[in-house]
Amino acid sequence: MDVFSGKVAVITGAASGIGRALADRCAAEGMRVVLADIEQAPLDASVAELRGGGCEVIGVLTDVSDAESVEQLAQRTYDAFGNSHLVFNNAGVFGTRPGPIWEATLNDWRWIFGVNVWGVLHGLRSFVPRMLASGEEGWLVNTASMGGLVPGGSPYGVSKHAVVAISEALYSHLSERSTLVGCSVLCPIYVRTQILSAARNRPHELVDTDGPRVDGPTRLGGRIETGQPPSEIADATFEGIRRRQFYIWPGDEVDHIVKTRFDHILARSNPEVRPFS
Ligand SMILES: NC(=O)c1ccc[n+]([C@@H]2O[C@H](COP(=O)([O-])OP(=O)(O)OC[C@H]3O[C@@H](n4cnc5c(N)ncnc54)[C@H](O)[C@@H]3O)[C@@H](O)[C@H]2O)c1
Repeated sequence: MDVFSGKVAVITGAASGIGRALADRCAAEGMRVVLADIEQAPLDASVAELRGGGCEVIGVLTDVSDAESVEQLAQRTYDAFGNSHLVFNNAGVFGTRPGPIWEATLNDWRWIFGVNVWGVLHGLRSFVPRMLASGEEGWLVNTASMGGLVPGGSPYGVSKHAVVAISEALYSHLSERSTLVGCSVLCPIYVRTQILSAARNRPHELVDTDGPRVDGPTRLGGRIETGQPPSEIADATFEGIRRRQFYIWPGDEVDHIVKTRFDHILARSNPEVRPFS
């Protein structure tokens, strides 16, 4: 896909970080834009800023972990603009709990999988059939992470492996059909966003009152604070879409990580343990 002007973009997790940078880039491309986020105030502020810059934009309060909410997002998109050409399933949350994987609580798994995995699945279920029915050119980008390519760590890393696998399934199932709709999976590493305060949006019923907190500073903190600006991720993403590239990541660090993982798999040797995700 290489002509964006006048087309319709939908972005989840659009009120902050990578989602907001994607929204800015869509607006700069002359697209009509639907911003979806669970946080009302930053969502409203983002809509106002894009509108002030001349973009045709709406905001839709959305919880991607809820199928009905994402279906309403699709309805609102089609009511407002009659189509969706570029869909970013980007909303995601991060949380770490010190300790091994068997000590992550059921609520940790439910929250992180609810947003990171079910959020992507809900996006596909609500948008792909509509995009195919339109017969027009379209593209979906699912935001995974470098954490979806290294040996899985916490529930976050495991959830991002699922996003990579879902995206690979989407790619092959779209490729088997004669359709103008394609897809990419975005695997960034260390981006300067609000991801470390993701627990601000954790539903009450999924908060554990005992045990260690899952938010707050983590060993990743320094790398996120000094990480890439989100605008670079948006630029790399658009470059990837233009090239019809499936795997998208900016920079060389991820190349080494992927190579090391597959070298170990091919050598049937034990995984290299990395302090990620
Ligand atoms: N920041 C990084 O270093 C990094 C690295 C790799 C991947 N990612 C991924 O990038 C994506 C965007 O994260 P970010 O770094 O921009 O973080 P961010 O916290 O700055 O932005 C995430 C946005 O998602 C929204 N959100 C959270 N729960 C939601 C829900 N249930 N429904 C709808 N919206 C919800 C938040 O309100 C926020 O606006 C995530 O999928 C994340 O896992 C981030």
